Amino acid sequence: MSHEDFKVQLFRFIDVLPCLATEQMLNDHIQEYFAQHEKVPAVLRFGAKSAGIGGYLGMKVLAKTIRKNIENMALQFIIGNTIPQTVRNLSKLRQRGFAFTLDILGEATVNEKEADSYAENYMRLLEGLEQARSNWSALGTDNSTLDWGHSPKINISIKPSALYSQINPADFQGSVEHILDRLRPVYRKVIELNGFMCIDTEMRAYKEITIELYRRLRSDSEFKAYPHLGLAMQVCLKSGDRDIGLMLDWARQARLPISIRLVKGAYWDYEIAVARQNGWPIPVHTNKAETDASFERCAEKILRNHDYCHLACASHNVRSVCSVLELARLLEVPDDRYEFQVLYGMAEPFRNALLKMADRVRLYCPQGELLPGMAYLIRRLMENTSNESFLRQTYVEGCEPERLLRAPHLSISETAEKPAPERPERSESQSEFGAFSNEPLADFSLPEVRDAFAGAIAEVKKKLGRTYPLFIGGNEVTTDTLVDSMNPARPDEVIGRVWLAGTRQVEEAITAAQDAFQRWRDIPAHKRATYLIRAAEIARTRIFELAAWQVLEAGKQWRQAYNDVAEAIDFLEYYAREMVRLAHPRYIGHAPGEVNEYFYQPKGIGVVIAPWNFPLAISCGMCAAALVTGNCVLYKPSNQTPVVGYTLLQILQEAGLPPGVFNYIPGAGSVIGDFLIDHPQTSLIAFTGSMEVGLRIIERAARTSEGQPSVKKVIAEMGGKNAIIIDDDADLDEAIPQVIDSAFAYQGQKCSACSRVIVLDTIYARFVERLVDAARSVRIGPAEVPANFMGPVIDESAQKSILHHIEIARKEGSILYSSNVPGGGYYVPITIVEGITPEHRLAQEEVFGPVLAVMRAMDFDQAKVWANSTRFALTGSVFSRHPKHLEQCRKEFRVGSLYFNRGCTGAIVEKQPFGGFKMSGVGSKAGGPDYLLQFMDPRTVTENTMRRGFVPVRSEGKWIE
Ligand code: FDA
Repeated sequence: MSHEDFKVQLFRFIDVLPCLATEQMLNDHIQEYFAQHEKVPAVLRFGAKSAGIGGYLGMKVLAKTIRKNIENMALQFIIGNTIPQTVRNLSKLRQRGFAFTLDILGEATVNEKEADSYAENYMRLLEGLEQARSNWSALGTDNSTLDWGHSPKINISIKPSALYSQINPADFQGSVEHILDRLRPVYRKVIELNGFMCIDTEMRAYKEITIELYRRLRSDSEFKAYPHLGLAMQVCLKSGDRDIGLMLDWARQARLPISIRLVKGAYWDYEIAVARQNGWPIPVHTNKAETDASFERCAEKILRNHDYCHLACASHNVRSVCSVLELARLLEVPDDRYEFQVLYGMAEPFRNALLKMADRVRLYCPQGELLPGMAYLIRRLMENTSNESFLRQTYVEGCEPERLLRAPHLSISETAEKPAPERPERSESQSEFGAFSNEPLADFSLPEVRDAFAGAIAEVKKKLGRTYPLFIGGNEVTTDTLVDSMNPARPDEVIGRVWLAGTRQVEEAITAAQDAFQRWRDIPAHKRATYLIRAAEIARTRIFELAAWQVLEAGKQWRQAYNDVAEAIDFLEYYAREMVRLAHPRYIGHAPGEVNEYFYQPKGIGVVIAPWNFPLAISCGMCAAALVTGNCVLYKPSNQTPVVGYTLLQILQEAGLPPGVFNYIPGAGSVIGDFLIDHPQTSLIAFTGSMEVGLRIIERAARTSEGQPSVKKVIAEMGGKNAIIIDDDADLDEAIPQVIDSAFAYQGQKCSACSRVIVLDTIYARFVERLVDAARSVRIGPAEVPANFMGPVIDESAQKSILHHIEIARKEGSILYSSNVPGGGYYVPITIVEGITPEHRLAQEEVFGPVLAVMRAMDFDQAKVWANSTRFALTGSVFSRHPKHLEQCRKEFRVGSLYFNRGCTGAIVEKQPFGGFKMSGVGSKAGGPDYLLQFMDPRTVTENTMRRGFVPVRSEGKWIE
């Protein structure tokens, strides 16, 4: 195991430790994390050696020792577990001359109850400090009320995201309001105690919300006369200089003195990972010297504005701190306009020296229970051990002082290494079109993105009620049946009026497709692929509008709708490249004197029968695959989302597909469904939808009629009854939001949605309590309002079917939670039911709605058996920090797409090809390397190249080994 691997194992072990409720669990984890390792850490060494020996008693003693050791380590960074202990330790710090700011450690806030209790904990803490305050004499002065004559003795730091469980950048104003509701009383209490409050800054996604919070609170008529409110601002962000400039301008214009805690930023690696995952530009500097230089620049900017802005310089970097110290002296900044802050437990020699030099040093002291404190501990450990950390370079690497103290702007030019790639470089699907990369997802933390989305909805609303014709052989066609497509949130609002095809129009479409087929089949594959690339470009320019249609016609939330369009673009881009890859003829076999060529041809006329739940992405994926492989397509969109289906036609038409290649034929399944499948001239059916319809298609397509030229190929993606296993050591801070998202996002109307959560007995009570409170916290209402997490289901019949299953749930188990629903649209309650075991219908039947069965498993083996106990095998997920259990699931949890420590929805093209087996479908995975093969027939041509014993040598070409 390398040093890096070992570090990962150690951090992961410390992370899971608080969840290890029994000695056995502790012992198992030590074995699994460290048994192979010769460098077992001192605190665990005794454990790893003696694991399995010494019997129960030995194990108990061992467990106690290990816990104590790790607790002691944590206590180096945490000032106290309880308020009295915290107050005692603060008093000691103050006697040594340090001021403090207190931060309460907590689990991630996954529900509103937890947000309330986070705020209450601050109130209790403040009350505890109030009593202690009178015993504390002021630091650095005889004045008994303020430290150093100007600074409140009581100082707290608070995390905004912990004050609102539904914080959501898309719902900017709502998030700010809800956080303020809980923050105001805390701040009121701070003011009552003549204290100071600093708002911590967390991940970039919440940056704008945090800044707005600060401004609103600072300028509130109730509070504006009180100056002691601070904001942490991060300079590892590329926007750091600008953010601070804007903040200073705001303060000056508003005539409100402010205080900024200048930090480099604790989320540096997180931001890079998130940006890479979403395809966003990297928002942080990737050269450490850039961050350091920005710190110095921003500090100077603040010091030059010291009349309006107080500076808290928060760093352990000697160079950064000294530059502030020197600059402040040079600019003759008064002492009461700046101070220094360091984290409690870190770099003690440094903080002591700093106190001597600067007098005004404040320690950031986390307090609270150890269990939630572990996350904090890990972050600090990571910071201390990251390669570029000043502390590591000083204490571990022993870098020479000249280098450590060098001006960062000098280092920038020297180390100006190539910038980190904004997008991943490697991709399987390379071609003349360049490497494939996923379409970036929407970053709703950017105001321009929120505005664009809201604007697109407003624009689309102006276009409601239009009439949409069929499109056959390059012509618009109307029929005698016109139906309305409705908004499921307002069933009397017409989204569009759509002409429906009858069998006559289907017949015409088949003729048009036949006419077009030969020409389409024979054009070079890369040319066909070019149409897809063009279509992707068109979709990209309309991305907000396309998403807005889905919000209104399918009831998809902003993020869900945007992701759907992005996935459609991914399919176009990915399949284009895949076709170019597959179109290269390959040569097989090595026998001299013959050449065997292996290549593909399209099947003919493809029928695409699409669902409404991913109305553009799945439609587009199936159609794009059929088209690029050379088939002509008859596209029947879902009757619930024909207008979104029409947008696909518009995109492909604008991309310039020849007439007859793509035909848009919405129609009632009962009128044209069987006709399309049975028709002797259709040779390929790509379907996504329910198991019942899928099986019917498979059965009918298997029959051959008189004169039918080929056996039909069916690609059917059907249902799921997907399970998430919650192991006894699962990180519930992660698991709960992910289960909520997997089960209820888009109303649970995804074939990948979680409908069973299988929870181990030992963690059951805690999980269920937090889960139900989390479900209780989400908002339900029209999808166009971004504050709503859940919207209406697709139509009245879906509503009835789900309500029927909720009745079954009531009979089979006991309802843990059933939400209220708004009136008007096709809403159903979020329903969580417990007491479900595999023989229940709730554990077997797909519901396609927000109904979650909770199953209590006695142990992990039972959980695995239950997970596999349905006819379906689509997606699944396991939350566990037990390496052995994850390994077992890799083999034994048999589903098409299995996820570890994340939810079971949200597959991404190329990264997570999607599709299942058993009753979940036939065919290979969409968005994966085998998908296009299903739309073609392979052919070989063998040529005897030997003429009277003369054997030409062939060198070019790819040979299949
Ligand atoms: P050092 O000089 O070693 O800098 C480390 C930092 O540089 C990393 O944290 C990262 O930001 C950046 N970095 C690392 N590698 C890099 C690379 N390759 N390229 C570019 N930049 C790189 N943080 C936060 O986000 N919100 C907050 O509210 C607070 N609050 C807070 C209060 C107090 C009192 C302190 C002391 C610190 C914080 N922090 C924080 C943490 C702070 O942002 C920072 O992570 C640590 O203090 C480490 O920075 P130093 O200057 O001490 O060390």
